[in-house]
Amino acid sequence: MNALQQLSAHLDRLKSDGNYRTFLEIRRLADRAPVFLFLNPSGELTEAVNWTSNDYLGMSADETVRKRLAEIALEAGAGSGGTRNISGTSHFHTMLETTLAGWHTRERALLFGSAFQANVTAVSTLGRLIPELIIFSDEENHASLIEGIKLSGCRKHIFQHNDAAHLRSLLEAAPKQSPKLIVFESVYSISGNRAPLREFAALAQEFDALTYVDEVHAAGLYGKSGAGLLEEAGLSSKATLINGTLAKAVGVHGGYICGDALVVDAVRSFGTGFIFTSSLPPSLCAAAITAVQRIQRDAALRERLHDAVGQLRAALDAAGICYAGQDAHITPVQIGGSFRTKAVAYDLLHRHGMYLQPVIAPTVATGKECLRIVATARHIAPQFSELAGAMASVFEMHGIPRNKPAGIRKASGG
Ligand SMILES: Cc1ncc(COP(=O)(O)O)c(C=O)c1O
Repeated sequence: MNALQQLSAHLDRLKSDGNYRTFLEIRRLADRAPVFLFLNPSGELTEAVNWTSNDYLGMSADETVRKRLAEIALEAGAGSGGTRNISGTSHFHTMLETTLAGWHTRERALLFGSAFQANVTAVSTLGRLIPELIIFSDEENHASLIEGIKLSGCRKHIFQHNDAAHLRSLLEAAPKQSPKLIVFESVYSISGNRAPLREFAALAQEFDALTYVDEVHAAGLYGKSGAGLLEEAGLSSKATLINGTLAKAVGVHGGYICGDALVVDAVRSFGTGFIFTSSLPPSLCAAAITAVQRIQRDAALRERLHDAVGQLRAALDAAGICYAGQDAHITPVQIGGSFRTKAVAYDLLHRHGMYLQPVIAPTVATGKECLRIVATARHIAPQFSELAGAMASVFEMHGIPRNKPAGIRKASGG
């Protein structure tokens, strides 16, 4: 096979396994979110309710955030015009970094084009600067953390998901003098499981290990000022680096790390994924500042989200739909089988106007395909029972039993 035939064979395999991804083209309507429009197979513009977005607080549709974005785009231009080093540091970049550092009560923050980029760059840079570092990674870590660990070139040990006893045994077996880094997420994006933060923090202290905590699905949603689960647990100062996104609860775009000034400065000074890329547009930074400030002062926003999650689960309970993820705001419903999960999602969208993107391999292990339901602060009362009713009807059609599913696990090793 030549090179192109090899690519074609990969795609053919993906398709025959049912893991080829197609994207639904959405017409977003900020004022009507979570309702959106899409073209149905007959080419008609149709309404649906979005149950799959990570715009947890609806901040992407917030009027003050949108206005700020537009205002600064008009004032400063559409793009930043350069890398951070080459005229791409506006005062909005600096202000946003100060705002984020303050939010997480850390000395310094650093912006990236996305949290994916932040994870890859920060983890790999730490490893490159400390070559004898041994990395301990949760088996369900996100692909960006796995990429960062691979790129670091460091020795790694994968511990069983959220298993402090297993992590301890791996730390004990590692040479005492070697520097160590524990990498994990505070809330897991598909299962909704929370990490045992206190136990991990205690282990890090006992074994003198650095910690890297991905708070992408927690920042904005937990803690007194919404900074995340570390804040909620009173452990913000314990993580060496905290990673977050501006694209989910904050509703805009971009990612960041924060921590002690020394560590952040090392990533700023040596991270190629930070240095050699254009910076975020100033307008986006300004909008993110507005969104973070709103989240910090408006606990009612978070309460609305958690209330929506409670209403969703009550409606699912009433309809006999079983779900996992009781730990946090994410509600996964296991289906199993990529073709079946896609067919269920297709019927939910096209028969009932309920949009749930099927979660298939490699995001989850083969056989553990699921629907991941996200109730946001903008969903309203009748929508929960409508979704539950639609799911009950489609599950009936597909012969899906409504019994308690097994826990949902991710496929890729951390
Ligand atoms: C756990 C986790 N970390 C990082 C990311 C990357 O975030 P971003 O969308 O800002 O690149 C994601 C994205 O879904 C995620 O789920």
